[in-house]
Amino acid sequence: MSDKKKNDDLDYETTGHSWDGIQEYNKPLPRWWLYTFYVCIVWGIGYTIAYPAWPGINSATAGILGYSTRGEVAAEIAAVEARNGPINEKLASVELSEIATDPELNGYAINAGSAVFKTWCAQCHGSGAAGAKGYPNLLDDDWLWGGSIEDIHTTITVGIRNPDIDVDWARQSEMPAFGRDELLEPEQINQVVNYVMSLSGEPQDAAAVAEGETVYLDNCASCHGDDAKGDRIQGAPNLSDAIWLYGGDYDSLMETVNNARYGVMPNWNERLSEAEIRAVATYVHGLGGGEASE
Ligand code: HEC
Ligand code: HEC
Repeated sequence: MSDKKKNDDLDYETTGHSWDGIQEYNKPLPRWWLYTFYVCIVWGIGYTIAYPAWPGINSATAGILGYSTRGEVAAEIAAVEARNGPINEKLASVELSEIATDPELNGYAINAGSAVFKTWCAQCHGSGAAGAKGYPNLLDDDWLWGGSIEDIHTTITVGIRNPDIDVDWARQSEMPAFGRDELLEPEQINQVVNYVMSLSGEPQDAAAVAEGETVYLDNCASCHGDDAKGDRIQGAPNLSDAIWLYGGDYDSLMETVNNARYGVMPNWNERLSEAEIRAVATYVHGLGGGEASE
């Protein structure tokens, strides 16, 4: 049985064309389908007129509704800022020591401060604020520059050893490079390092320790203190505990005393608002090592 026969049987309408006996059915698209298709075309054109659509050289057409995802984000940010405006203003203007006494303000500052910390501080101090070699741990109560909310606020505002900052309360102190600048003989450096190790109970050479104490009192005590407990005005670390910023083994200490270190932290007063600085100071103060205001 040929197809042609079948066609005849079923009596389909054909287009009237025939090629080698092969005919073409004339089967129009269903109406509903066709109209849906036209509606889609019209809607599509309308959409590209109303919304950003056609790519240009630098940017796409803007669309007459002026919508953009960027604009939407900006509007959302503006809304959040407007909502937080009053509390940020309050945070930026109260006495620092009052923040902790106002539960609502304190809670807001800690949340906002945690976000600031993750964005701006975690890359150096670690996401959990535990620090790393050269970057102090902010969780403990061992402070170079002080652990009250005022001290922490100052440290964050002006940074540390920041050549660009031009206020007389900037944190600029610098330890001399005793070896590199030939302020001490190599043997004296060996002695004083042995003395420093003895302070935190590390094994050392007793004869060198005795000599080292003299070297210490003559050269180091002015900054680190007679009792080696450090001096926060100069950011000179406590050398009598076993907490080390740069390492407490012989080689690390030789490196520190020979060449000095020069730990630098950026100043944040140009990058963060006063409310953000206070928020992150409150957050750091609340991590565990915070001290009472004087
Ligand atoms: C580029 C690295 C870097 C970044 C980013 C950084 N810090 Fe620091 N921070 C340091 C260094 C280095 C020190 C120690 C400097 C020194 O030797 O005195 C320090 C010290 C501190 C201290 C003083 C600790 C003490 O014991 O007194 C505080 C507080 C502090 N940072 C908070 C922050 C906060 C808050 C941020 C984010 C807004 C931040 N830091 C971002 C590098 C950084
Ligand atoms: C002018 C002040 C000053 C003098 C003098 C000074 N230091 Fe320091 N010392 C500092 C400061 C400030 C730091 C912190 C340096 C940094 O973070 O870059 C420091 C850091 C150190 C550290 C690193 C501590 C750690 O936790 O890793 C050691 C060790 C040290 N000093 C030993 C000495 C010895 C020994 C002498 C004497 C030979 C001496 N210092 C003299 C200011 C001083």
